[in-house]
Amino acid sequence: MSATVPAILCEAVRKGFRGRGSASGPALDGLDLAVEPGTIHGLLGPNGAGKTTTVRILSTLQRLDSGRAVVAGRDVTRDPAGVRARIGVVGQYAAVDEVLTGRQNLVMFGRLHHLRARAAKARADELLERFDLLAAADRPVRHYSGGMRRRLDLAVSLIRSARVLFLDEPSTGLDPRSRGEVWGAVRELAASGTTVLLTTQYLEEADRLCSRISVMNRGQVVAEGSPGELKARVGGTLDDAFLHLTGRALRSVA
Ligand SMILES: Nc1ncnc2c1ncn2[C@@H]1O[C@H](COP(=O)(O)OP(=O)(O)OP(=O)(O)O)[C@@H](O)[C@H]1O
Ligand SMILES: [Mg+2]
Repeated sequence: MSATVPAILCEAVRKGFRGRGSASGPALDGLDLAVEPGTIHGLLGPNGAGKTTTVRILSTLQRLDSGRAVVAGRDVTRDPAGVRARIGVVGQYAAVDEVLTGRQNLVMFGRLHHLRARAAKARADELLERFDLLAAADRPVRHYSGGMRRRLDLAVSLIRSARVLFLDEPSTGLDPRSRGEVWGAVRELAASGTTVLLTTQYLEEADRLCSRISVMNRGQVVAEGSPGELKARVGGTLDDAFLHLTGRALRSVA
């Protein structure tokens, strides 16, 4: 690892949920993670591994029980507002309004973020162009394809410019073409300097998009490296690596 200060750092992060059987252990059980600035980093793991919990703690939507997490130089426990001012989040389930058009959604979220009407409109135009949604800008979102919706989710998360972007399963449920569109948008973001942490259950997504991958299982990182390093470790495909590391097969792209 280079000497650069990580854009995201987790040290021994623990998080338990009341009511969760003690036999299954805490959702996060001493998670360590370091993400270099300007890279696309993948959190790859099977259902229940703790991916969403990690994203929710790093984006200050949930509190950690113990350990330390720092995002864009701000401690999530001591300075949650400072973290929030520097991040964007796209959750596992989208938040855009289906009845409104893409443009109306962006302007609405801009206003929610305290932009004046004119600034919100200008920001909407900029983001529509950036995510290749200008032609569809004035159509209701319910008529959008899955890929267009996901790109609108990305645009909404970037209403305020973000240094770190969290994407929870950005392409789950998308067809291959839409998935390719979303990947293109994510790559452009990273190329412009944004650090991206994405969770995925797709090996191909991690392999194609991420420069580094942390493999999660039962609330811990069980392996970390570039896709090539992880494959080399078991002398096979990324598929073999995951089966080996987690004892469970992951989803492959349909
Ligand atoms: N609010 C909650 N209350 C109780 N248990 C929870 C809560 N949120 C998560 N968990 C549990 O914590 C564990 C980790 O969940 P999490 O959602 O982080 O996993 P994940 O890796 O995102 O899974 P998926 O791939 O299904 O999205 C799971 O066993 C889950 O049931
Ligand atoms: Mg999840």
